[in-house]
Amino acid sequence: MHTSKTVFITGGAGFIGSALVCLLLRETDWRVINIDALTYAGNLESLADVIDHPRHLFSRTDINNRAALDALFREYQPAGVIHLAAESHVDRSIHGPGEFIKTNIEGTYTLLEATRAWWSTLDSQAKAAFRFHHVSTDEVFGSLGTSGFFTEDSPYQPNSPYSASKAASDHLVRAWHHTYGLPTLITNCSNNYGPRQFPEKLIPLMLLNALGGKPLPIYGQGDNVRDWLYVDDHARALHRVFAHGLPGEIYAIGGHNEKTNLEVVDTLCALLDELQPRADGRSYREQKTFVADRPGHDRRYAIDAGKIGRELGWQPQENFTSGLKKTVRWYLDHPEWTAHVISGEYRHWLDKNYGART
Ligand code: NAD
Ligand code: TYD
Repeated sequence: MHTSKTVFITGGAGFIGSALVCLLLRETDWRVINIDALTYAGNLESLADVIDHPRHLFSRTDINNRAALDALFREYQPAGVIHLAAESHVDRSIHGPGEFIKTNIEGTYTLLEATRAWWSTLDSQAKAAFRFHHVSTDEVFGSLGTSGFFTEDSPYQPNSPYSASKAASDHLVRAWHHTYGLPTLITNCSNNYGPRQFPEKLIPLMLLNALGGKPLPIYGQGDNVRDWLYVDDHARALHRVFAHGLPGEIYAIGGHNEKTNLEVVDTLCALLDELQPRADGRSYREQKTFVADRPGHDRRYAIDAGKIGRELGWQPQENFTSGLKKTVRWYLDHPEWTAHVISGEYRHWLDKNYGART
């Protein structure tokens, strides 16, 4: 019988999930069961430092596979679930919403039902201590004007297929708490950035395009605003909420770092000019190009993270300047990670390094 606490992390081979898995292995004595289907966004190379950790077990499992989930619950008997597995990119959701419905809505439903079946078998003490933590986004609240902030009480007004699918999953989690008493937590977080982010999202895409001598495609006027949070700060917040949050509660998480997309790209170009100047001595800024706007593009996101600060004592440790510098340095220092993502080699990383074993 395993003695330390066991938690399931879904989506632990993704950008935020891998940062969370590493943080939990580093800062707790918990056993982490990492459940991930390894879609295009799942990358075991991001877990290279912990793949062999004695308290880390990886299972290549789709959250829509109920029988496989039931078997994992029986085998590992977790004290909670932190659910990050999702389709996560707005542009992909515009071009093909089907996968978003399947994973984010149906997958969350299947996971909730598997969790509820396991949770129902527990004694009253273990039942009360159990947590199902759903990791969500501020995009479920829609778009802000030039002022104001999203809070835990903001009305749901999702505008993209991605945010609508996340909103639906938030509602399912809320209902499983209200109806069945499952002890749930929901966190709604702003835009994350940092090492190991798939280069479809703004910051890694611009970074790699800049280094590759390609255009930097800015949607519309580049004046849309996002509130940026360094990924390790998000992982710390998730740990704090999972360990200390109150069942049924929602916590908004943000970085107090509002930037227009143009500001983000200009800051990134300035950092690259300093850290890895172009061979011709000109600025990476010259690669900026304005392209057609994203359909339904949300204007501004910003979070009031007062509740998690007051109630759980969480504050971000990085500001945008320090976090972006770390991020750029990481990508410059890990060209092989990027090269494997671009070539597609990352999809065979485990087989290549350890033989097929998932
Ligand atoms: P990501 O796309 O990098 O990773 C998603 C992971 O989920 C991948 O490893 C993928 O293989 C896995 N996955 C996808 N479908 C699956 C399925 N059917 N079964 C099992 N695993 C599956 O995403 P991310 O940026 O790390 O985001 C993680 C979570 O955090 C998501 O739920 C997202 O909505 C939420 N979130 C992200 C941000 C952000 O800025 N990236 C901000 C707030 C909230
Ligand atoms: P993204 O990283 O896709 O996150 P989200 O859509 O979830 O906020 O995009 C962040 C912002 O950057 C968003 O306003 C869209 C914009 N953007 C561009 O201007 N060009 C791009 O190539 C991408 C991917 C995003």
